[in-house]
Amino acid sequence: MTAIIPAAGKGTRFLPATRVIPKEMLPIGAKPAIHCIVEEALAAGADDIVLVISEEKEIIRRYFEGDETLFGKVRYVYQREQRGLGHAVLQAAEGVTGSALVLLGDALVTGPNPSREMVAISKANGGASVVGLERVPPERVSRYGIVALEGRAAACGAGDAARIVDLVEKPKLEEAPSDLAIAGRYLLSADIFSLLATQTPGHGGEIQLTDAIRRLLATQPVFGYVYPGKRQDIGNPQGYLKALEAFNGIV
Ligand code: G1P
Repeated sequence: MTAIIPAAGKGTRFLPATRVIPKEMLPIGAKPAIHCIVEEALAAGADDIVLVISEEKEIIRRYFEGDETLFGKVRYVYQREQRGLGHAVLQAAEGVTGSALVLLGDALVTGPNPSREMVAISKANGGASVVGLERVPPERVSRYGIVALEGRAAACGAGDAARIVDLVEKPKLEEAPSDLAIAGRYLLSADIFSLLATQTPGHGGEIQLTDAIRRLLATQPVFGYVYPGKRQDIGNPQGYLKALEAFNGIV
């Protein structure tokens, strides 16, 4: 299984530190956050890790090239234009034939390894795609991709999985189908790549992964998995401090 870790973003929510240090390189204990994410992917069964970086973020490559235990497992592709998350994932398409695990480079999740849980849910459902979810308060709904689950979404609790019936990228609160936000982890059938290649720009004029998953839904099942733990967004100083607290003693 290939894991794709998009990490080419500019880190504008964490300036001035990100002028020289990519947010993914900020340490959680002694390890850069992106190292924790690579370990999560390996523990979930990935044997091929593709880091999507930019030329300004070569330091990530230098870091992993210095690690003998990961030698041969990590590859690099470059996203030369910032055209959105869908565009970043598409850069890693070459050579991927099976399902791809996508882990956002600025999201850490507490509790059981979310990628491993999602691989298990996929296996139990005939290899279906799975998207990791967390409930968010109303004031944060418009910052995320929001999903509608089959049946009563309100009854779907921590650790549950259910079929997704709709997704919308960064909806206004009054138009949001629920309070369940897409939260940094995806296990996607390889069919996502041909959809991304033809995906027209969506929210913010960017190629949105959410929009391509919405099209995937028309032909195959996609499940949502509500993390029992919490997602920590290390892309801003407050989230980073919370992540340090949440992973204190774990990493
Ligand atoms: C991206 C996705 C969005 C998702 C979010 C957190 O948005 O487009 O659907 O909810 O990550 O995983 P971004 O934070 O890059 O704007």
